[in-house]
Amino acid sequence: MNTLFMHCRPGFEGEVCSEISDHAARLNVAGYAKAKPQSACAEFICHEPEGPQRLMRELRFAELIFPRQWARGEFVPLPESDRIGVLLEHLSNLPTCSSVWLEVLDTNDGKELSTFCRKFEVPLRKALIKAGKLQEDGNGPRLLLTFKSGREVFVGLADADNSAMWPMGIPRLKFPREAPSRSTLKLEEAWHHFIPRDQWDARLNGDMTGVDLGAAPGGWTYQLVRRGMLVTAIDNGPMAESLMDTGLVQHLMADGFTFKPKQTVDWMVCDIVEKPARNAALLETWLGEGLCREAVVNLKLPMKQRYAEVRRLLDRIADGFKARGVKVSIGCKQLYHDREEVTCHLRRLDMKPRPSH
Ligand SMILES: C[S@@+](CC[C@H](N)C(=O)[O-])C[C@H]1O[C@@H](n2cnc3c(N)ncnc32)[C@H](O)[C@@H]1O
Repeated sequence: MNTLFMHCRPGFEGEVCSEISDHAARLNVAGYAKAKPQSACAEFICHEPEGPQRLMRELRFAELIFPRQWARGEFVPLPESDRIGVLLEHLSNLPTCSSVWLEVLDTNDGKELSTFCRKFEVPLRKALIKAGKLQEDGNGPRLLLTFKSGREVFVGLADADNSAMWPMGIPRLKFPREAPSRSTLKLEEAWHHFIPRDQWDARLNGDMTGVDLGAAPGGWTYQLVRRGMLVTAIDNGPMAESLMDTGLVQHLMADGFTFKPKQTVDWMVCDIVEKPARNAALLETWLGEGLCREAVVNLKLPMKQRYAEVRRLLDRIADGFKARGVKVSIGCKQLYHDREEVTCHLRRLDMKPRPSH
């Protein structure tokens, strides 16, 4: 059990290695990271068997930027037949689990394997229950089986409340037919990731106001409107008529980098594709000056040193808030719907919530 296995978007294996190595060094967990390009996964091999568990205990999964899923465990070769027997034998040394997810990597090979996983899941589940290795009302860890092929699986464990919310970290969100653009799913995913579901009614509701910078045609505005908010949409481009017809949207043709609301708004969202330092500075101004209470902003990734650059920007934003004496929580994730970008969520922790009407 000396391996921490992580899934990621293909092409971002190097970022996962840099990020986990950074944390491991800080936490004094000895080991090294390795990954094959475009494999959609990376491993951190610890020198001590308890290393992966220490990393998982000390780190909050939701706060990692590039990994989509993680599990501690090891690779197990599988025979052509009686895979279940081999798995059960391996699991005999592991605790009883409260859930099991069969996962594949986000690659073409992985997609082909998902049919096999679907067929394999039912008999495996039955066998696990029969062997006392799966107890769904128990409080054991989640069993994560990542199939690299029909002949090799990573058998891993993770706590359900400190790992991905969805198998492989890929959300199953339905595209709303009325939404003006597909990027609507990005803001919806951001909310799932950054805001606990039981806080949505308090933090995303019809008493609130929002500003959408770079709003056209309106996929993100649609999400704010769907929660009942009054939205100021800033963009020189046209907004979808269906959104304007709701009466909840004011469209201003203005520059998103100079626009400021007259009063504090609850939400600022920004999907303008710009240099990341410029979007980061925008975040610092809006949260730092109290122009909004919460924000979701995209940061485009540079070509090289992508983890190091994001880290540097986040640290700079945090230093800016410290210098202003304001308290802000900062989250950052490469969401499933992000490509060459990451999504940041910031929230003023020292501002009173708006009184509800
Ligand atoms: C990726 S699109 C936004 C898509 C939108 N979030 C949606 O879901 O439909 C980026 C938008 O930013 C706008 N934009 C670019 N620079 C801007 C600026 N300086 N001020 C305001 N809008 C800007 C573009 O016109 C474009 O409509």
